[in-house]
Parts: sequence; structure tokens; C-alpha cells
Amino acid sequence: MARTTLTRTVLAAVSAAALFALGACSSDAGTETGGGGETGAAANDGVITLGFSQVGAESGWRAANTKSIQDTLTAENGFDLKFSDAQQKQENQIQAIRSYITQGVDVIAFSPVVETGWDAVLQEAKAAGIPVILTDRAVDSSDETLYESFIGSDFVKEGEMAGEWAVEQYDGEGYKAVELQGTTGAAPAIDRKEGFESAIEGSDIEIIDSQTGNFTRAEGKTVMEGFLNAHDDIDLVFAHNDDMGLGAIEAIEAAGLTPGEDIKIITIDAVKDGMQALADGKINYIVECNPLLGPDLADIAEKVLAGEEVEKRIVVKDEAFDQEAAKEALPTREY
Ligand code: AHR
Repeated sequence: MARTTLTRTVLAAVSAAALFALGACSSDAGTETGGGGETGAAANDGVITLGFSQVGAESGWRAANTKSIQDTLTAENGFDLKFSDAQQKQENQIQAIRSYITQGVDVIAFSPVVETGWDAVLQEAKAAGIPVILTDRAVDSSDETLYESFIGSDFVKEGEMAGEWAVEQYDGEGYKAVELQGTTGAAPAIDRKEGFESAIEGSDIEIIDSQTGNFTRAEGKTVMEGFLNAHDDIDLVFAHNDDMGLGAIEAIEAAGLTPGEDIKIITIDAVKDGMQALADGKINYIVECNPLLGPDLADIAEKVLAGEEVEKRIVVKDEAFDQEAAKEALPTREY
């Protein structure tokens, strides 16, 4: 926790406006640090001040992820968590990170809304001597020294698992598929698409349309309505998350069709609402994306600040569920 703070003091002067603008959507469950004159840990008697910039509140998965972080990084566990919600906007995340630099937090963590465009602000954190930990989503940067560790699922693998199951079940039927993509430019949207496409290659499953539904239920529904208007031969939906799949279910039912039967649905996440729809027969298969990243984040933050070596990439393990497995798992499902 003893990290140089000289540059933080300089940065404090230039980022006051950013701090003010951030006020509306950030919260502080612990003690305020000063304007960057002293490290949070030193000022707070060993408490780790961690600034976290969350993507938003776009999905059930995100809500579970936020809860895991807020439940773990508590005062009781030795943390002063500063949390901000970027409302799915990269500029808000950059502003939040600059604000954390100004405040002189001990460590910054964030889940980047999109993959690219982070080098400048991460250089600022590095120059201020503040370590950065990525959770959930990766950044696309050639400079791996800009962050200490990346904790999250393998999104390409998730897409592959979804595609492999589709091939196992439906190859030979000439299925026409539509794809509900996640947020354009986000790592899970890019990687899940890549994984699914590579898994169905060589099969007779064909993706006839693909658009972003921005990981939300409302946009998933709207985009699915558009697909149904444009195509009368859809057999399969691959949704990059449960929420968009749940939106697609609403659109399919409104069109007088039966989700899970007339149109098969495969999604990713395995949050409770998705698992319930799977158990009810409205979704056919879900690949899990585990949102409970709080404990790993706390552990890595402590190790980094203690000067210990940490793994650059921590891959979170994911399972997959068919309808029977969902019925079994639901009663004890944590999220
Ligand atoms: O980055 C993880 C993805 O983001 C989840 O699959 C999705 O639900 C969320 O919004």
C-alpha cells in the first residue's frame, strides 16, 4: 500500500471538474480520502481504498456482479469501496477513473464497457502509481503493464460451448439462426460471436441476421421483433446474454409462436430469470457466465498492494445447463 503519491497530487489539480461531474452516479460506502496528498491506505489505517467503475445496470448478470463486489469489499473486510455506475458509457468510466486517481485511491478496478480506447487513462493511473485490476471484461491494449491482473470468464469459450451444443442438437436440420449481439465493441460481444461462429462452422446452421441488443431485455425484444418481421423462417436465436433472450421470448410470444419449440433459444449467463425460463421450456440451453467476482477482486487487490506476484489472467470457470439441469440447479442458485 506504500505507493508513491507525488503524481497523484499533481493530477488532483486537473481533475476537479471530473470529480464534480461524477457525483450523480457514484457512491462511497467508506471514508473520504483527501485530494491525493497521502495514500488512502496510510490515511485510513490499513484500510484499502478501492475505486470501482462498473459498466452499468443493464442486465441481471450485472446486478449480481455489483452485489458480489459491494458485499465483499466492505469495511468489515478492510475496504473502503468507492463505486460508480457508468451507465454503459465509456466516457463516464474514463471520468470515474480520473476521479479515483485524483482522490488518491490505493487501487482502481473496472469492467470496461468496450475493449479499446483505454491506454491514455491507464497511463495516467500508472504514472500516479495506482495499480489497476480488470474484472469481467478485457481491454485491447498492446501494453500489458497498464494493469496488474484480469479476472473474468473466457468469452470465446462461452460462445464455442453454445455453438457446440447447437451443432450437437440441430446439425442436419438446415436451421436458420439469428444472433442478438451484446454491446458493440464490448469484449463479450466480440468473443462470444467469434466462439459461436467457429463452433458452427462446417455445420448446416446458418446465421441469417445479427444485430446488437446492447445486453438489455428491452433492446433484445425490439431487435427480435425486427427479425421476426424480416424473416419468416427463423429456427434458432443465439443471444449473447439471458436478458436479450428473455426480451426475444416476449417478441416471439407476441408473434403467436412458442419460444423453445417453434423457435429454439440459446443464451449466455445463467442468472435466475434465465434459468427459470430454461426450466419452463422457453429457453433450450444456457452457458453460464459467473458474475461472483468480488472475492477474487478482493484477494488480488490485497496481494498487489502487499507487493506479491499475481497472475496476469485469472479465468473464471463456467458451466452449462439444459432444461433438466436448470430444474435441478434452480432451488440452490445463488444469482
Ligand atoms: O460482461 C459480461 C456480460 O455483460 C454479461 O453476459 C451480460 O449480461 C452483461 O451485461
